[in-house]
Amino acid sequence: MTMERIKLALEKARAQQADEAAAHPARRDTRSAPVAAPETVPSAPRLGTAPAAADISYTQTAVMRLDRTHLERNRIVAFNKGNPNNWAFDVLRTQVLQKMDEKGWRTLAVTSPTAASGKTVVAINLAISIAHHTQRTAMLVDFDLRRPHVGTYLGVRKAVSLNDVLAGRAPMADALINPDLPRLVVLPTNDTVTKASEILSSAQVADLVTDLRDRYDDRTVIFDLPPAMAGDDVMAILPRIDAALLVVGNGDSTKREIEESLRHIPADRLLGVVLNKADADVRRGYGYY
Ligand SMILES: Nc1ncnc2c1ncn2[C@@H]1O[C@H](COP(=O)(O)OP(=O)(O)OP(=O)(O)O)[C@@H](O)[C@H]1O
Ligand SMILES: [Mg+2]
Repeated sequence: MTMERIKLALEKARAQQADEAAAHPARRDTRSAPVAAPETVPSAPRLGTAPAAADISYTQTAVMRLDRTHLERNRIVAFNKGNPNNWAFDVLRTQVLQKMDEKGWRTLAVTSPTAASGKTVVAINLAISIAHHTQRTAMLVDFDLRRPHVGTYLGVRKAVSLNDVLAGRAPMADALINPDLPRLVVLPTNDTVTKASEILSSAQVADLVTDLRDRYDDRTVIFDLPPAMAGDDVMAILPRIDAALLVVGNGDSTKREIEESLRHIPADRLLGVVLNKADADVRRGYGYY
């Protein structure tokens, strides 16, 4: 699929969403209501062993050295000004932060229509780019509870991860990793979690997301999600997150899959679409609308 076709497909899908909203205002209302009100997500009881809010700070987390060669092998390039793909994340970071600031958004979901589109690669690079090139803290959370890869791509692992936090076995502070890049905090998931969509729609997770978002004024929290078309996970968690970025792997998803996945993301919360693995003439792999 060429870039032009994807662009057209997206425009068409957006127009369809608008038409549907006009034709079915009630349906539109019920779907967008929880999404439009992340601030009003009720505060649920904390996880059994979770620490009080003030206990979680990145200065307390373990500092882990990142292996630059391992990162580049996994297409993590945003820390390296000399890498030819770094420019794409500069552009993406600027546009994402501009739009998020305009709306007062702090949390961003990264998803895609189908698998292996480059969500995790984009989410990690975006987080690094924000942390590296601005004065903000970037937090990266692995909410792909079915195929978690943030830790392996970054080459960091602790015995305790988000699995244990979600199961109430450990406080979040124990799972946080502070890589040796300033202002970057990572909350990896080590193992596949069963009943992922139930967990993601739980009050416990709503509380966790609110907690992460409200901790610091200058923090952007990025959530790496599964594909929108794979189960209910994205539907379950999106109402808790301010905005979403859709990563489309060039040629990986059909027009129909793109349109279908856009139905899962309310139009007013769609921050943009990243065209990944684009043609060489789109400057080595990345495009953004
Ligand atoms: N721009 C790119 N050009 C070429 N290969 C890429 C590009 N971006 C990502 N990849 C590769 O595609 C594969 C899938 O990437 P990634 O794991 O980020 O996708 P994903 O959407 O998170 O997948 P999953 O659905 O399994 O979570 C990886 O091997 C990654 O290195
Ligand atoms: Mg992934």
